[in-house]
Amino acid sequence: MYDLIGTYLANNRYRVVSFIGEGGMAQVYKVWDEQRACYLAMKMMRSDLAMDRVVLRRFHREAETLSRLQHPSIVRFYGMEQDGERVFLLMEYIDGISLAKEIFQTAAPFSEERILTYLRPVCSALHYAHQNGVVHCDIKSANIMIERQGRVCITDFGIARLAESTTTTLAGLGTPGYAAPEQIMGKPPLPQTDIYALGVVLYEMATGGERPFTGEEYKDEMLLINAVNREHLNIPPPSPRKYNPRISPALEAVILRCLEKSPRKRYPDALMLLQALENAIGKPSNSEQLTTSVARLHPAVLRFLIGALAVALLLIAFLIGSILFSPKPTATQPPHLKYTYAAQTVEARFTKLPGWESTRQPSLTPLPPTQPMMQPSPPIANTTADTPEKPPASTLPLPPAGAPTAKVLAAQGIYIRSGPSTAYEVIAGYPQGALLQVIGRNQKSDWLAVLLENGQEGWVFGENVDLSVPVDTLKLILPPPTPTPTPTETIRTATHTPTATQTETEIP
Ligand SMILES: Nc1ncnc2c1ncn2[C@@H]1O[C@H](COP(=O)(O)OP(=O)(O)OP(=O)(O)O)[C@@H](O)[C@H]1O
Ligand SMILES: [Mg+2]
Repeated sequence: MYDLIGTYLANNRYRVVSFIGEGGMAQVYKVWDEQRACYLAMKMMRSDLAMDRVVLRRFHREAETLSRLQHPSIVRFYGMEQDGERVFLLMEYIDGISLAKEIFQTAAPFSEERILTYLRPVCSALHYAHQNGVVHCDIKSANIMIERQGRVCITDFGIARLAESTTTTLAGLGTPGYAAPEQIMGKPPLPQTDIYALGVVLYEMATGGERPFTGEEYKDEMLLINAVNREHLNIPPPSPRKYNPRISPALEAVILRCLEKSPRKRYPDALMLLQALENAIGKPSNSEQLTTSVARLHPAVLRFLIGALAVALLLIAFLIGSILFSPKPTATQPPHLKYTYAAQTVEARFTKLPGWESTRQPSLTPLPPTQPMMQPSPPIANTTADTPEKPPASTLPLPPAGAPTAKVLAAQGIYIRSGPSTAYEVIAGYPQGALLQVIGRNQKSDWLAVLLENGQEGWVFGENVDLSVPVDTLKLILPPPTPTPTPTETIRTATHTPTATQTETEIP
C-alpha cells in the first residue's frame, strides 16, 4: 500500500501524498490533483477486485450515483479514473475523522446535543438523496465524516443505488450490524432502509459504541455475519437504556422506531426522524437556557454582568423620567424649528462634535412614528438572490492623510446612495468601522457626500457616521438631479414650507 506514495497516476495528474485507510473493498489515499491544484481523496480499488466485473460495476455505480448528488453534507465526487489496471474514484478530501472513530475515541455516550449536532446534517443529506431517488444502502458511523472545522458529511454512496430502479436486487449489501431486515432479505432498498441503519448509528452514539445486533445470540450456531443478520430479522432490539440508563424514554422511543423490522413502521422520511429527534431531545426553554448559561459563568463575570444590568436599569429609569418630565411642544414654535426627524437626530449628533456650532435651536417637534432612517432596499451592486442583508466588507482604500473622514457607526453598516436622501438609489454598502473620505455636505448638513473607491460620488446619512471635522467646514455640494418623486414626495416642492411632519425622505 505504501509503494504508491510519491508516485503519479493518470498521466502525472495525481500525486499520491499519503495513505488514509482501508475499507472492505478499497484503499483510500490522499492525492494532489495537479490540474485542480487541490487535495483529493482517492479510493483505489484493491487490485484483485479491479479485475472483477461485478465489483467494477459496483464502483461504476458509486461513480454514477455520486455524480448525481450535490449537497453540503455529502462528500463531493470528482469522477472515476483508470490507470492501467488501477481503478480509482476521486472525491473531496475530508480533513477529519469518521464518526466511528469519534465514538470509539469518546468511549462514552454522546450528549443529546451532540447527537443532534451530527444528526441534523446527516438527516438533511439523506433526505436530499432520497428525494433524488437515491438510497445510500450503507449508512454506518464509518461512512459519516466529521471535518476538523465541524462539518459533518456522508461518504461512500458506493453501494447506494437508485431507488426507482427495482429490477435488480443486491441482497446482502450494506454492512452487517447496520443492514435492515429488508436489505438482508434482498428486497429493494427504501429510504427507510437508511433510516434503519441511522437508527443503529443513533444507538451507537447514545450508548457509547454499542450496537443492537452483534450476533452474540446465535454465535454458537453459525458464522458471525449470519448470526448478526438473523438477529436483525428475528430479535427485537435490546433497549439502548440497557447500556446507558440515562437515555430518556423519548430518545429511546425514537431509536427503537428507527429499528422497527417493518419499514412501514419506521419514520417515513429522514426529516420526520429529525423532527422526532428534535422533539425528543427538546430544547430547554429560554429561561432554562439563561439559567444554565448564567450558572456556568465565572463569579467575576457574573458580578460584572449584575453591575452592568444595574447601570442599564438606572439609565432606563433616567430616560423614562426625562421623557415624562420634558417640556411638551407648544404651538408657538418658530417656523424654522420645524425640522424633520432626521434633521433633529443629525443635529443632536453633530452638535457633539468639536467646533460644530448649530444655527438651529433643538426642536421639540414630536418624532414621527417609526420612519426608518435607511430604506432597506438592497444595494444595486448586489442584486443576486443571495444578497447579504448587511453591506459587504469594505475594500475601500484608506482616505488620504488629512482628508475629512466619516467612520461608519451603524451596527448594520450603511448604504451609500446616489443622492442626499433615501429617495435616491443605493449604489454601495459599507460595514461598521469602514472609513470613508468625505468631500462635502448637502444644504441641510444631514447628508454627507463621500468618495467611493471607483471615484464615484455617493451620499451617506450623517447620523450613521462619525465625522472627523466640523460639518460646517465641509464644502456645500449640490445634489444630483432629483429622482422621479414617489407619490409621498410629490407633496414637497421647491417652494414648500417644511412642516413638523416631514421626514428625511424629502428631497432637499
Ligand atoms: N473522502 C475522504 N476523505 C478523507 N478520508 C476518507 C474519505 N473517504 C474515506 N476516508 C477514510 O478512508 C478510510 C477507508 O474508507 P473506506 O470507505 O474505504 O472504508 P469503510 O468506510 O470503513 O468501509 P466500506 O468499504 O464498507 O465503506 C476510512 O478511515 C475513512 O475515514
Ligand atoms: Mg467508507
